[in-house]
Amino acid sequence: MVVYIKTYGCQMNERDSEAIGARLIASGHRLTCDETEADALLFNTCSVRDAAERKAKGKISYLKKLKDRNPELVIGAVGCMAQRLGEKLLDEIPHLDFVVGTGQLHRIVGILEQVRRDRKRICSTEESADVLTGMGDHAAAGGAFGQIAITRGCNRFCSYCIVPYVRGREISRSESDVVDEAKRLVDGGVREILLLGQNVAAYGLNGNTRPPEENVSPFGELLEKLNAIDGLLRIRYTSPYVTYFSDRLIAALRDCEKVCRNIHLPVQSGSDRILKAMNRQYTAQDYLRYVDKLRAALPGVTFSTDVIVGFPDETDEDFAMTRDLLNRVGYSQSFIFKYSPRPGARSAQRPDSVPASVKEERNQILLGDLAARVEKMLADQVGSTVEVLAEGVSRRNENRWTGRTDSNFVVHFEPRDGLKEGDLIKIRIRRAGSVSLFGEIE
Ligand code: SAH
Ligand code: SF4
Ligand code: F3S
Repeated sequence: MVVYIKTYGCQMNERDSEAIGARLIASGHRLTCDETEADALLFNTCSVRDAAERKAKGKISYLKKLKDRNPELVIGAVGCMAQRLGEKLLDEIPHLDFVVGTGQLHRIVGILEQVRRDRKRICSTEESADVLTGMGDHAAAGGAFGQIAITRGCNRFCSYCIVPYVRGREISRSESDVVDEAKRLVDGGVREILLLGQNVAAYGLNGNTRPPEENVSPFGELLEKLNAIDGLLRIRYTSPYVTYFSDRLIAALRDCEKVCRNIHLPVQSGSDRILKAMNRQYTAQDYLRYVDKLRAALPGVTFSTDVIVGFPDETDEDFAMTRDLLNRVGYSQSFIFKYSPRPGARSAQRPDSVPASVKEERNQILLGDLAARVEKMLADQVGSTVEVLAEGVSRRNENRWTGRTDSNFVVHFEPRDGLKEGDLIKIRIRRAGSVSLFGEIE
């Protein structure tokens, strides 16, 4: 079969799609980027905001015309929205052949082959721990960048969030599993590994929702093991929940030279009242204390974050506190989301009281602050020399390559002969753009 896969949502979904693709190839199928030549179209969907669901549904509905032309074509929805809606999605979209949830992704090849053969519609959304290992050891070969999902699911139940409902309870892969997969990736040429989880810092805590004691952090121990792998140059991770930064974990971050000094630390809001309503288990003060601690232990560390604007009842005053916190921390990147009520999540029981226009206004204000801050952060680096892991030819200019610094700034530069993806090189920064840096190899 020739299969087309389209992915919506987060890096976890990207990783899952990669694993699905690898499994299809291993079973003798072929992948394509051209939906018109495919025998099967797979949509790996996201439920985190209403817009994400509408996008995938719109695309699948639109493809009815392909199916009209080619009745043999199989169309399937997998992932988070598939999990949330199940049979309802089959009812809603009559030309959809199957729905496979997040707990059954490891069975996808068999299901696809079965649908193609029997032409019967299938809905499979049971939760299963098998997906943990089933989606693991199929990392794509080639390339210098690899991703490993070290945990799946989430136990935090932030009141706005659908993830715990569509991804199930939090489970961690064993340390030896993760280390073995990392070694395999490195043997295959990978130089940078990104560890994924809804709360990576809860790795190995067996789903316990209490933050770890000062001296406990299986995640810290995992980082130390990975740090010792020869040939691996960089380790990144996303996202950790702020209160899980025990002293033990911070010590590991300090001692592991391969672990990048850039932390994606979702804050969501700077107002204690809103944080409480979100069921985030910290105050703005608590959050800032962790930031101070991390800065003290990790010189030069940069932070990025996620923020929600327009949570139910968010006042101008609440928003001002968020804005103030963002400026105080001085994030080098922030992802700002307009609140979207998710049926099933607790906050959806309250009216979505902040008008769309106000959400948009708050969004724009934070984007403006971010742009000004980033411009300054980039300008400050002109004249300095930074270490960059080469990623390959720039998408915008084929004479240039791009790479990233340890602190996650994007750098464009002219390549030298023999430069390979995954090489670590020193770049002298000559010029700053509005979102990236430009320099030359030293
Ligand atoms: N597990 C990650 C976040 C996953 S969802 C973490 O906690 O770090 C990514 C981001 O989407 C969240 O951090 C939040 O800012 C945003 N988000 C989640 N649910 C949302 C909703 N209902 N409306 C708007 N934004 C939402
Ligand atoms: Fe959602 Fe909160 Fe879990 Fe992140 S930690 S996935 S925001 S419930
Ligand atoms: Fe990711 Fe969206 Fe699912 S953000 S975990 S793909 S709901």
